Amino acid sequence: MNFFNDLADFSIAEIKELITLARRLEKKPEPRALEGKVLAMLFLSPSLRTLISFQSAMARMGGGTFVISPEMSIHGLESRSGIVMDGVAAEHIREAVPVIASYGDAIGIRAFAKRENLGDDLSDGEFRELTSLVDTPYINMESAINHPCQSLADWKTMDDLGIPARNGKFVLSWTWHPRQMPFAVPAATVHMAALRGMDVTVLRPEGFELPDIVMDKARQAATISGGSVTESDNRSSTMQGSHVIYANSWASVHHYGDRQAEDKIKPELRDWCIDEPWFENAANDCRFMHCLPVRRGVSVTDSVLDGPRSVVITEARNRMLVQMALLHQMLSRS
Ligand code: CP
Repeated sequence: MNFFNDLADFSIAEIKELITLARRLEKKPEPRALEGKVLAMLFLSPSLRTLISFQSAMARMGGGTFVISPEMSIHGLESRSGIVMDGVAAEHIREAVPVIASYGDAIGIRAFAKRENLGDDLSDGEFRELTSLVDTPYINMESAINHPCQSLADWKTMDDLGIPARNGKFVLSWTWHPRQMPFAVPAATVHMAALRGMDVTVLRPEGFELPDIVMDKARQAATISGGSVTESDNRSSTMQGSHVIYANSWASVHHYGDRQAEDKIKPELRDWCIDEPWFENAANDCRFMHCLPVRRGVSVTDSVLDGPRSVVITEARNRMLVQMALLHQMLSRS
């Protein structure tokens, strides 16, 4: 495996193979599998889980990591092309990124959406530019429009819990959030659940539809898997018989990059905070999923998050296990 950027680059059989390997490595650790191997990690955006789960995954297989982020004592980084660098930034990504990559056997990169221009973010331009600068294997640790490691962990989490794939009812629900949030997790999640063969509904208020390109990609995945993808603003009918509600927040496509305009339509949506009554019509064992971090009392109530439906900690632990599998595939034979 030379890159891990999008679950869409893999067949369903290949994804299942990764999950099987993750389970094997959990039960039967291979503490020397990646001895002498180094994962470089470039974080242009903050993280808790991604950073630590990759460090732990490498350490558990005998490898090492190093981390670079703009907050560290590095030269200011310039990313614009054709710029005269007579300002604060002393180093261009065109030199910095290949240098960082050259110290590792693979590189993981995180670069969140800038949330200025919808087209730019949907094309994942910054991530593509960064990866074009390296010739080592690379991993998407969350870009403007994707979070494949999270999706792989969520797929494993549902498999482990016995949540049905075919005829499994998956609800991806928008929740209130004080900030304008990116499309990376909802886009990756709706695609992952569709590719797993589930009947997926995107539950969101009017004005918070996911971009057409995201829905089209998920529908293509459903065509392959036998699942389905639809959207609704009706909470009660959507939750009927659901096996999973996956909470996330994302920006309005109608006001992308204009936070003030979005703020004007959001006050009346404060009740989009997942609470016990949401589950009235759901399957008895309907699970609550979230990639974390999550804002308590804003996106979900304490009682749901701390209650038996919540599997958020399991999802987070599975990040480490599935990343062990993909690092093993990427580096153990190289
Ligand atoms: N879920 C996730 O990617 O968490 P972090 O942003 O903390 O890495």
